[in-house]
Amino acid sequence: GLPTSFAEESECSTLEIVCQDSLLNLKVTLSYSVFENEDVITRHVVVANGGKDIIRIEKAASMSLDMDNRDFEMLTLHGSWARERHKQRRKLGAGYQGISSGRGESSHQNHPFMALLTGSCTQEQGEVYGVQMMYSGNFDIQAEVSQFNSVRWQAGIGTNDFCWVLGPEERFYTPEALLTYSDEGIDKMTANYHAFIKNHVIRGKYKDKKRPILINNWEATYFHFTGEKLVAIAKEAKKLGIELFVMDDGWFGKREDDCSGLGDWFPNEKKLGCTLKELAERIVAEGMQFGIWLEPEGISEDSDLYRCRPDWAVGVPGRKPCLSRGQLILDFSRKDVQDYIIERISELLGGIPVTYVKWDCNRAICDKFSRMLDSSRQGEFAHRYVLGLYRVLEKLTEKFPQILFEGCGGGGGRFDAGLLYYMPQIWGSDTTDAIERLSIQYGASFGYPVSAMGTHVSMVPNHQTGRVTPLSTRGCMAMAGTFGYELDISKLTQEEKTEIREQISIFQKHYTLIQRGDYYRITSPLEGTCTVWEIADPSGREALVSAVYHHVQANPVPVRVKVQGLKDEADYQLFLNEDFKEKYPGKRLPYGFASGEAISGASLRQFGFVVPEAVNGFQAWQIYVKECPHQA
Ligand code: GLA
Repeated sequence: GLPTSFAEESECSTLEIVCQDSLLNLKVTLSYSVFENEDVITRHVVVANGGKDIIRIEKAASMSLDMDNRDFEMLTLHGSWARERHKQRRKLGAGYQGISSGRGESSHQNHPFMALLTGSCTQEQGEVYGVQMMYSGNFDIQAEVSQFNSVRWQAGIGTNDFCWVLGPEERFYTPEALLTYSDEGIDKMTANYHAFIKNHVIRGKYKDKKRPILINNWEATYFHFTGEKLVAIAKEAKKLGIELFVMDDGWFGKREDDCSGLGDWFPNEKKLGCTLKELAERIVAEGMQFGIWLEPEGISEDSDLYRCRPDWAVGVPGRKPCLSRGQLILDFSRKDVQDYIIERISELLGGIPVTYVKWDCNRAICDKFSRMLDSSRQGEFAHRYVLGLYRVLEKLTEKFPQILFEGCGGGGGRFDAGLLYYMPQIWGSDTTDAIERLSIQYGASFGYPVSAMGTHVSMVPNHQTGRVTPLSTRGCMAMAGTFGYELDISKLTQEEKTEIREQISIFQKHYTLIQRGDYYRITSPLEGTCTVWEIADPSGREALVSAVYHHVQANPVPVRVKVQGLKDEADYQLFLNEDFKEKYPGKRLPYGFASGEAISGASLRQFGFVVPEAVNGFQAWQIYVKECPHQA
């Protein structure tokens, strides 16, 4: 019932080491699958109880590795709601250190990923060991430095409240840990993980298929819309080249705010002004695909489902449950709850022309208790919840192979390789502010490809930060992900609409490069003035360099980009924002831009180019590097 990486026989081989405890009649199988092309080893453990007694498993790490401490630093990603996956790098000290989640989800706060870096390691040089969990629930990743300066490194299911009762003849499977190694710095670790996730984690129709550019109505309307308003957005979006309309929260039950209606997955026809099927058909008739928001794990106290089945909500009997975002959570560890959701959602999706689902979960789990488990087994609850979720997702994705599922966890609270097995993309964060997103997407880039990162262009002033950034900057940021829009299109000026049309045509033109190319972090949003990243075609024919000024200075220090992934012997031309259409008032363009002169790949790698200066606050530049015929 767990997500698992997969491969053709020729791409992977597995070593199983069987450890036997004859006293307890316990067999522990350590499984190592070697994916040579991506330099990844996946590791999981199977515990089999061959004895007559019950065994209580209190800790079951997916991997454990001992090595000498070579001045290791640990790189982790931490955050909060709307501030997910901020990078942190610190030196290992004596004793325990690590990260974990006990919130029932992989979490906004700590991310199920850690890298150990040799002290002087950079993007291009030094040794890196990476681990990430293919799991969406509680986890622990720890490094313990011993008395002899060795490191024991472990990753697995979170031990917070965990205890699994393993009866005679039963087996317990840990989730997979994805391990990688690089002796060419952090970039190589990233390249390994990006390729691995694209090739051996993401499945289904959308693994390699082009994903649609979408528009989502959340920030345009929040809960306050009618069917007519949604059709109007879809119609206008179609004219701009957008391909999919997503109806977000508020279309079902009595759901006018975030305190009611969750669980009642029946359309509010009064609000929509028609049936859901009619609405979806109207949108499809406009030439758009139709998508829908769901939060099947959520339940409001003010809902028919809760009134009918209060025992289905997670909570400790007799105690007042803790609300979060005004809601409770359904006990997905229960088979009857899973079956109900599978049936209800299948019926809903089966009756409408739908090609996209945003699967949200807006709260973490506390009051961990299931009425279906007796008191000696409550320690199984959190893991059983995740297994239940995976069962529901397996059934629904199997039943609806045409649907592109996008994961979401109150923004990016459940962004992990486990979820990516069912849903090829995950909404990155509830922050749509282009500058805040730089750090969030930079953090995610260490382990996850651009094709996994849900990103949208939204309105200004930004709804989360109040910041005003140019539309071109928002577009540039959103192109480091799945790319879409989330704004009230009726409030745009003609100029803005024209610019959006151009953004869409740039994204469509470079789609394969962006989604399948090799990703490089050039500068960090956490330092300096300008965040730069690059995506290069694996054959070295072209690259797209994106630069966003997160801090504008007078008389700035030049930002130099050494372009990676090109062919040393080939010649290239640089194009600024596609074709110099962008005005560059009063400033001299740096070397390489003005005349269209050819520059060799070797020169671009060693000497690079200087990013044009910012001409407005939060300026973004997209620089397209293209191979050209050799000039003598
Ligand atoms: C979460 C999501 C948002 C939106 C709202 C709807 O916060 O991350 O994108 O769907 O829920 O309630």
